Amino acid sequence: TSGMAAAPTALGFAAVDKSLLDNVMLPPGYQYSVLHATGDALDSALAAYSNRGIESDDWSRRIGDHHDGMDIYYIDADGRYSDKETPRAVLCVNHESSADSHFLHPNGQTSNNVSGKKFDQFGEWDLGTRPELEVLKEINLHGVSVVEIVKGPQGWRIQQDSPLNRRITAQTPVRVSGPRVHIEHVRNFMVSRWDTAGAMARGTLNNCGHGKTPWGTYLGCEENWAYYFQTTGAGAALSVNEVASRKRYGVAAAVPAAGVKKAAGQGWHTVSATDDRFARWNLAALGANAEKDFRNEANTFGFIVEIDPLAPNSTPAKRTAMGRFAHEAAVCGVPKAGEPLAFYMGCDSRNEYIYKFVTTAVWDPRDVGGGMVAGDKYLSEGKLYAARFDANGQGEWLELNIADPRIAQHSAYKFANQADVLVNARHAADAVGATKMDRPEWGAVNHRNGEIYFALTNNSAANRTPTKVDPANPRAYMDLDGKKVAGNPNGHIIRFKEAGHKGTAKAFTWDIFLFGAEDDSGDANLSGLTAKNAFSSPDGLWFSKATGICWIQTDDGAFTDETNCMMLAAIPGQVGDGGKVTVKNKMLVGGIEQTGTQETFLGAALGEAKLRRFLVAPKGAEVTGITETADGRTLFVNIQHPGELSKPLSSGEAPQSTWPGNQGYGVAGRPRSATIVITRKDGGLIGL
Ligand code: FEO
Ligand code: CA
Ligand code: CA
Ligand code: CA
Repeated sequence: TSGMAAAPTALGFAAVDKSLLDNVMLPPGYQYSVLHATGDALDSALAAYSNRGIESDDWSRRIGDHHDGMDIYYIDADGRYSDKETPRAVLCVNHESSADSHFLHPNGQTSNNVSGKKFDQFGEWDLGTRPELEVLKEINLHGVSVVEIVKGPQGWRIQQDSPLNRRITAQTPVRVSGPRVHIEHVRNFMVSRWDTAGAMARGTLNNCGHGKTPWGTYLGCEENWAYYFQTTGAGAALSVNEVASRKRYGVAAAVPAAGVKKAAGQGWHTVSATDDRFARWNLAALGANAEKDFRNEANTFGFIVEIDPLAPNSTPAKRTAMGRFAHEAAVCGVPKAGEPLAFYMGCDSRNEYIYKFVTTAVWDPRDVGGGMVAGDKYLSEGKLYAARFDANGQGEWLELNIADPRIAQHSAYKFANQADVLVNARHAADAVGATKMDRPEWGAVNHRNGEIYFALTNNSAANRTPTKVDPANPRAYMDLDGKKVAGNPNGHIIRFKEAGHKGTAKAFTWDIFLFGAEDDSGDANLSGLTAKNAFSSPDGLWFSKATGICWIQTDDGAFTDETNCMMLAAIPGQVGDGGKVTVKNKMLVGGIEQTGTQETFLGAALGEAKLRRFLVAPKGAEVTGITETADGRTLFVNIQHPGELSKPLSSGEAPQSTWPGNQGYGVAGRPRSATIVITRKDGGLIGL
């Protein structure tokens, strides 16, 4: 389209081999440094990070853990937001999870962890009271870090003590913002002992992918928030509808039976039943009155959270109009003046949906730098859709509206009104027949042609068999090292083009951009991947505005016997540049070999010229989060959870990874998540 640079035709670096080493591997001619890592202090008055878990502060002024989505916000000479590159900026980084919090405590364990297991939102906690300081560290390591960075002769570094340095944590007061007519319903949905007006929520959790708005704010996305809550003790009965809502989001409702020593979650509520900082993680209904307990606390999560990075005193906002689910990223289509904006969002769980939010307000470029006021204008009112992918290569956006009889008369959940549709969006998308996808992770927009890409990271054997596939999720068989693995363990990337290139379109055209696969996996290697570009479980996805490169990041468990997780560069074509293919599926179902075929649409093969491995991560890490300087010569990338497969430290075994301490960053010993800065030694464009 006019005014846009032509796409490059080939990548300009030597592919990085698969690696099992405990370091970040890059092509020849490239280098990296660590910008910040878990536990680094925002203020010089705080002790430097010990990496031995002996901090006595509550971590509310330290870099959080599990670095994830991120973006950069330039500051002009007047201290205002600029979309032009300057040597001064704020970097916002999501801090997703405390799954490795055992590394943050003195003995690597909490005092009552008799099982010796890691504390983990997907794991177990031992019943009993957890130490307050450990739990505070875990609560405060979540959220978003907002940190000033400056470019000096040695490259970018963080600016300690900047008045812009801020932590949004799982405790920060956050405003609830949505359509005006929804206020009463949302109040009843969220009301708690902490805020009987239901107008404020506290904090943000499990921020995974992210978004950047055209007006210059940051969108954190709440993904696996449902696992942080427990429900203990006797409680008032929930209504049938409340039970149905919790169940659809996987909110823990189980009460451990007498004598059971462990339960899912992290046990944050065990610190105190009267101190709301801890009591709020227990969803038990204590009586008839929801204003006296925290039965609704999980209802305050599952949103897109908007933050103004350059206004440290501003209150973040949960944007209910954008729907409530397990939000991955929120990516804005190419903005066009005078037209509504469209934000594309994944719900990352098995068999969940891809959504689109279309603003009521039309884009006015004068709103650049408009902060939360602009956010209120664009993100308070709009329409929410879920995607259906059809066998003819077309698709339809299904509006989630109470006026649709399929929603109004849905059998599994009785919607009260449109506000209820938005905060129970998963039920509404079920009702209209959206397509259940292989775990929608990040979306990304190709700025050069407006097409939208989504990483579908993987799916299980229970969900994908030769008879349980569809055109957009067509694969149900993998042969990994001669071992038959059922489902779609290596994932794929789907892409679509809106009708008329309009964000308001109801129809789109789609194809599959790439299938992840091991290079020796035969029929399952549908994209013809080689040792130089084989990958599995795409997760982070992002287009460089400077180079047009599509960056693909992985979070994988299926390929990690051969290589650590990675980042690849791709030069994409466009929707429809390939053709129809037949996927041959074969797997053992109940000991009997089942076969089947599924037709789909696959983009043109890229080959090694247009798809190459650029980076391999340290042991146990996923690669996630990426942004660049506007000149395309500096790339910021996040390395999350190195050493994820470590045994608890009490086992006496060394951690799986000791990165980045093993490369001279900080105190050596335990692994840490970190943001790295990648440059070319000759200062050139990254990737070309
Ligand atoms: Fe937090 Fe969907 O990855
Ligand atoms: Ca193999
Ligand atoms: Ca992710
Ligand atoms: Ca992960």
